[in-house]
Amino acid sequence: KRDGDASNQQGSGPVERAKLDDSNVYMSSDVGGPMGDQFSLRVGRRGPTLLEDFIFRQKLQHFDHERIPERVVHARGAGAHGTFTSYADWSNLTAASFLGAKDKTTPVFVRFSTVAGSKGSADTARDVHGFAVRLYTDEGNLDIVGNNIPVFFIQDAIRFPDLVHSVKPSPDNEIPQGATAHDSAWDFFSSQPSTMHTLFWAMSGNGIPRSYRHMDGFGVHTFRFVKDDGSTKLIKWHWKTRQGKASLVWEEAQVLSGKNADFHRQDLWDAIESGNGPEWELAVQVVDEDKALAYGFDLTDPTKFLPEEFAPLVPLGFMKLDRNPTNYFAETEQISFQPGHVVRGIDFSDDPLLHGRLYSYLDTQLSRHGGPNFEQLPINQPHSPVHNNNRDGRNQIFIHKNIAHYTPNTLNNGYPAQANQTVGRGFFTAPGRSASGNLVRELSHTFDDHWSQPRLFFNSLSPAEQQFLINAMRFEASHLKSEQVKQNVLTQLNRISNDVARRVAIALGLDAPAPDPTFYHDNKTAGVSIFDHPLPTIKT
Ligand code: HEM
Repeated sequence: KRDGDASNQQGSGPVERAKLDDSNVYMSSDVGGPMGDQFSLRVGRRGPTLLEDFIFRQKLQHFDHERIPERVVHARGAGAHGTFTSYADWSNLTAASFLGAKDKTTPVFVRFSTVAGSKGSADTARDVHGFAVRLYTDEGNLDIVGNNIPVFFIQDAIRFPDLVHSVKPSPDNEIPQGATAHDSAWDFFSSQPSTMHTLFWAMSGNGIPRSYRHMDGFGVHTFRFVKDDGSTKLIKWHWKTRQGKASLVWEEAQVLSGKNADFHRQDLWDAIESGNGPEWELAVQVVDEDKALAYGFDLTDPTKFLPEEFAPLVPLGFMKLDRNPTNYFAETEQISFQPGHVVRGIDFSDDPLLHGRLYSYLDTQLSRHGGPNFEQLPINQPHSPVHNNNRDGRNQIFIHKNIAHYTPNTLNNGYPAQANQTVGRGFFTAPGRSASGNLVRELSHTFDDHWSQPRLFFNSLSPAEQQFLINAMRFEASHLKSEQVKQNVLTQLNRISNDVARRVAIALGLDAPAPDPTFYHDNKTAGVSIFDHPLPTIKT
């Protein structure tokens, strides 16, 4: 459906069409026969139940299979519908159609989440928070699968299972939940210093937001905008909250975990029900292709943020969430975001973490949904037409009519036809992208500096916010059982800031480490370059 077509508007898409109303109807079986199901079929009132009772079997069988696997990460979440509105025609930046006209609107579904906890965990556990947005554009679904923290723990996707194993509950007794008070998590963090930057953000107020409404969102990786003429720019996605950023304090977060484990999902639900749906501005940082190494770090390294002094935010439009889901399972649980869901006008960068994600989400969703047809679920269906030669498979819901389910064909006059040859549109792989090199299993030395940006982040905080972060570190580190892990944590903190290391050491009853001047160079953003000032070789 093209822009302007009523069926592309919010509230009339596939989700709306799939809704089933059970009011004023009689009860029937799964295959349509009228029934009453209050009693199973028995041999006499006091006798055994009969296997032939297909109504009883159908009901119990369905119940027995109600659960699907929860997400392997980000299992705990809440979602809502809304609309994105573009401020202008941004074809000077990207060919993406949803940004192609002033005031153009696009339906969205957003899912906020924590990362480590299970589906039934408490909302206010300290964690990174997921901020996943799907835009049902008139040229297909665009998912910006981001977090509320602009950087990530690791640089190579092959370490993701290790990261997640370390923050999930202990394999012997399933205690504790979340990334807190947890020897294995802190063992991993302090052995893998690329985690330090994200850890600092998570130990600040960003780890315990006041509500989902009070968080910013970030795409984290560098992506590309591609224009109709094929030219490209590097970009970073930002969602800026219009509610203002705010966080809980730790004591509040702990009390709330006990008093109302649903605190965040309740807050989002109530805000929307009362007509106060939250809003975010979508902005991008835009950088020329030849600037990927210009700022003292590598723009394809997801553990680094791009300071706004180098690239200011360009506001593109805003999103308002104003409709709660009708059914949690059908919408919030079944939605299947993928960083690989991009539209014409958006392309990837060579970030090695992003490339792993492009594989992982599709793979896990095959397991979560038990087959390849989950894009046909109402919440996953795009609002633009789907015509291709993908066929059959478990739970196929479409009845494809044409005999020619292959291309090229003459039996169906060549249809479905290639879009670039008919309507002059197709996905971009930016024509300027190229890759070459020897095959290696290592990262570039431009990914080596793990300590300057957490220092920059810490120094950007007010004294009260710094104390907040120190207190969080003290709380977490003082629950560690392993002396070795405590020591390793201090070693890494000391590479970031002797001040931080000393203040945490006191709480652990350990000697304050001496400053390590090899790690402390100029804290200013401009002029810090790991290329000009190579770091010493470090044993971790
Ligand atoms: C969810 C993998 C890094 C944000 C997931 C899921 C997997 C996964 C398997 C579950 C998806 C599902 O069942 O539908 C990975 C891997 C990563 C990685 C392998 C790194 C190699 C990241 C990063 C971000 C992120 C860097 C943020 C930019 C999210 C979000 C969700 C999610 C927001 C939840 C989506 C939802 O609400 O359904 N991730 N992830 N992940 N991931 Fe990642």
